[in-house]
Amino acid sequence: MQTDLPLQHDFSLRQLNTFGIDARARAYLRIDSVARLEAVLADAALAGMPRLLLGGGSNIVLTGDVDALVLHMAILGKEVIGSEDGCTLVRCGAGESWHGFVQYTLAQGLGGLENMSLIPGTVGASPIQNIGAYGTELKDVFHSLTVYDTARGALRTMGAAECRFAYRDSVFKHAAGAGLVIVDVTFALPQAWQPNLRYGELAQAVAESGLASPTAQQVSDIVVAIRQRKLPDPAVIGNAGSFFKNPVVTAAQCAALLAAFPALVHHAQPDGSEKLAAGWLIDQCGWKGRTMGAAGVYPRQALVLVNNGGATGAEVVALARAIQADVWERYGVRLETEPVFI
Ligand code: FAD
Ligand code: EPU
Repeated sequence: MQTDLPLQHDFSLRQLNTFGIDARARAYLRIDSVARLEAVLADAALAGMPRLLLGGGSNIVLTGDVDALVLHMAILGKEVIGSEDGCTLVRCGAGESWHGFVQYTLAQGLGGLENMSLIPGTVGASPIQNIGAYGTELKDVFHSLTVYDTARGALRTMGAAECRFAYRDSVFKHAAGAGLVIVDVTFALPQAWQPNLRYGELAQAVAESGLASPTAQQVSDIVVAIRQRKLPDPAVIGNAGSFFKNPVVTAAQCAALLAAFPALVHHAQPDGSEKLAAGWLIDQCGWKGRTMGAAGVYPRQALVLVNNGGATGAEVVALARAIQADVWERYGVRLETEPVFI
C-alpha cells in the first residue's frame, strides 16, 4: 500500500537542527494545516511508522539517523482574538517563528513577550519546555493551547494547569503528553503593561541605556543586544542554547557548597530552594573553550555546547557526559540536560 502524501524519503535534517548535525530521516513531511496532520495520522500506509515532531530544531540533539517520519510543523497564522481579565488574547499557529511572533505582538502595541525576544524556534514548541529568559517564562503570558490528541483523534484545548508548566518543563516532555501535537497557542498579554526588570542583567542594561521608561519594543531591542553579545548565532556556529538546566538544590546543600566555594553563583527560589548557575560550575571545572573532537564548549558561555564543524551527535553526547562527570565529582551536583535527545 502506498501513500498519496508528498513524503520525501532519506531526507537530510542538517538544515533543520540548529546544532547542524548531519543526520538523515527515513521520511519527511511538512505539516502546514490541521487537515494535513489528520491525513497523515489516518493514512493506513503509514500506520506503525514511528513519528517525530519537529519545529525549528533548536532544542534537539540528533544522536544518529532518525528511523521515523519527521512531521515538520509549519501551521501559520496569528491574530488578536479578543480580551479577557485585562489582557489581550493573541492566537498563533504552531509553525510561526517565535521571534517573529514576539515582533508581531510588539508591532500591535502589545507588551509581555519582549523579555523572551530572539529565542529561536517555533511558537508550537514554546510550551514544551516552558521557554524562559530574562525573568519571564511562557507560563506567565500563557492562556491556552490547542492540541491534536492522536489517541482520541480529535482537537482539544488545554489550559495552564493541564500543561503542568515548571522550570524548562511541561507535561509534553513526559509520558502523559505523548501523542499530543500542539497546533496553536493563545497568549494573554496585559493591557496595563509594565516592564519586567527583575532580572539583574536586564535591569542594568536598561539603566545603562538611559531610558527612564522604556517601551516594550525598547526592552526587546535591549534583550536582543544582550543575547547577540552572549550567545552564539546558530547560523554561524551550531548549538542548542543552554545544554544543561540550572540545577535546583536545597538551601542546606547550597549553604554547604558556599562554605567550600564562596563565589558559587546561586539564586533563592520562592519555595526556599536554590538555583545554581550551571555555567559557573562548568566554567570553574575549566571547560570553557575546550573541545572534544568537533564538539566544544562555547568560549563566552560555558553552558552552551557548540559544533565546531562536522560534529556528530555522539561527540556532543561524549562531551556532555564528561562535563557532567566533572561537575559531579567536584560539586556533588547532577547536571540535567535541557535539549531533547533523538
Ligand atoms: P524543536 O527543537 O524542533 O523541538 C523541541 C521538542 O518539541 C521536540 O521534542 C519536538 O518533538 C517537540 N515539538 C516541536 N514542535 C511541537 C509541536 N507543535 N507539538 C508537540 N511537540 C512539538 N530556550 C529557552 O527556554 N530560553 C532561551 O533563552 C533559549 N535560548 C536559546 C538560544 C539559542 C542560540 C538556541 C539555539 C536555543 C535556545 N533555547 C532557549 C532553546 C530553544 O530555542 C527552545 O526550546 C525552543 O522553544 C525550541 O523550539 P523549536 O521549534 O526549535 O523546537
Ligand atoms: N556564568 C559563568 N561562566 C559562564 C557562564 C555563566 O560564571 O561561562 C555565571 C555568571 O556568573 C552568570 C550566571 O552564570 O551570572 C548565569 O549566566 P547567564 O546570565 O548567562 O544565564 P544562564 O543561567 O547561563 C539562563 C537560561 C538561558 C536564558 C538566560 C537568561 C537556563 C538553563 N538557561 O542562562 O536560557 O536565556 O538564563 O534568562 O535556564 C536556554 O534555555 O537555552 C537558554 C539560553
